[in-house]
Amino acid sequence: MFVTRKAEFSASHVCRVPELSDAENRELYGEEANPNGHGHNYVLEVTLEGEPDPVTGMVLDLKRVKEILEEEVVEPMDHRFLNYEVTPFDRVVPTAANIAREIWRRLEKRFDDPQFRLERVRLYETSDLYVDVLAEDLAEKAALGEELAA
Ligand code: NI
Repeated sequence: MFVTRKAEFSASHVCRVPELSDAENRELYGEEANPNGHGHNYVLEVTLEGEPDPVTGMVLDLKRVKEILEEEVVEPMDHRFLNYEVTPFDRVVPTAANIAREIWRRLEKRFDDPQFRLERVRLYETSDLYVDVLAEDLAEKAALGEELAA
């Protein structure tokens, strides 16, 4: 069974690669490269997979999930300028893809219960654009990495 919890935060960012010129950054990222930055109202959906407990009927304690999203994502990122105030975005371009990966990284270590696992992190940057980080993709990449290393 899949359980999804939603959270929202507002943050500013600018998408630019420091090694590239202003013109090259504008070519790559368009308006997103404006050096003064701009804001988004990000909507996060975190999906966990597990089996409901036979007694409580719950896959997991949803209050706890809400607290973890607050601690790991909303408190550190809400009303922040990501490039200047939130690591690793002082050195990693805070595109939706990279923010979603960072959120996955932060949540993964908090959802290490044998009863359930992190299945998907979906991050909306605008109402018509979202990115997904999926457990299965990461598992495939890890397997591929092992193959390449072997
Ligand atoms: Ni933007």
